[in-house]
Amino acid sequence: MQKTILVTGGAGHIGSHIIEELVKDPNNKVISLDNYFTGRPENQIDGAEYRTGHTKDINDLVPETPDIVYHLGEYARVAPSFDDVSKVYDMNILGTFSVVEFCRQRQVKKFVYAASSTKFAANGNGRHQNPYSFSKAVNVDLINNYGIWYKLPYAICYFYNAFGPRENGTGPYATLIAKFEQSYLNGKAFPVVKPGTQKRNFTYVKDLARGMILVAQKGHGDGYALDNLNEYSITEIANAFGGPIEYVEGYPGRTESGNAPNKAREELGWQTTVDIIDYIKEFVASHPR
Ligand SMILES: NC(=O)c1ccc[n+]([C@@H]2O[C@H](COP(=O)([O-])OP(=O)(O)OC[C@H]3O[C@@H](n4cnc5c(N)ncnc54)[C@H](O)[C@@H]3O)[C@@H](O)[C@H]2O)c1
Repeated sequence: MQKTILVTGGAGHIGSHIIEELVKDPNNKVISLDNYFTGRPENQIDGAEYRTGHTKDINDLVPETPDIVYHLGEYARVAPSFDDVSKVYDMNILGTFSVVEFCRQRQVKKFVYAASSTKFAANGNGRHQNPYSFSKAVNVDLINNYGIWYKLPYAICYFYNAFGPRENGTGPYATLIAKFEQSYLNGKAFPVVKPGTQKRNFTYVKDLARGMILVAQKGHGDGYALDNLNEYSITEIANAFGGPIEYVEGYPGRTESGNAPNKAREELGWQTTVDIIDYIKEFVASHPR
């Protein structure tokens, strides 16, 4: 039987990998809704249908009733969110409210949210550290309450720093590993925000995509952290590329990840397959300087 699946943010980094997996099943009709704020046409996957627009307008842009909604279409950067607070409010708070309401009104069978692990930092107070983390944590509260108030069928995944193919390495919204690949290729120093000891659980994007699809199939409620258990500091990451490092001023984000609920491993047996240091070693070996 054909399933209609909506992926918001389908032209983004992680969304494109979810779509790549979903279109492998010929019974899936996959629709992306993306406003191309950070999404890119080159991330589009053959076999999916791409619609351009803000999630606030989801009702008009998606006349179909999807069976499953994967919601990734949000402003997705920590450090620049201080300067972009109104964009964060518009794209994440207003946009996500519309998506959640859409799912309630259309009686979508499963709503899956790409939450941020940043809320677990600072002893569970990470939501107060920057506008992005705040918006993501507020949306988790909203979705959990829709589960209570309206019995919305939902599951919440927590992502950790994604790396892997189609990561964006240029412009103001570039992400770390792709930026460092550019530094490496251009023979430049690696800019590490001080102190450089801040650690991250870099997680391979295809592991995240597989995890989110598994959670959509079998998960219920909050608590599906999708993290590589190996943590590395930003200095260790720059050194894995071979340096040299230039320490810079900036917003380091959280210092640690914090403890997140682990239902993806415990209930569903999800595991990661690629470690960031091995990935960097392979990149360096295949791009000799
Ligand atoms: N990358 C990570 O490490 C990470 C960590 C935690 C959570 N997440 C979450 O996962 C999701 C995907 O992140 P990503 O790394 O692929 O980022 P991304 O920027 O590559 O993807 C986000 C996509 O959503 C689109 N978008 C943003 N706001 C929108 C709106 N209001 N309406 C329609 N489209 C909109 C963007 O154009 C982009 O294509 C985001 O919700 C992000 O908060 C990512």
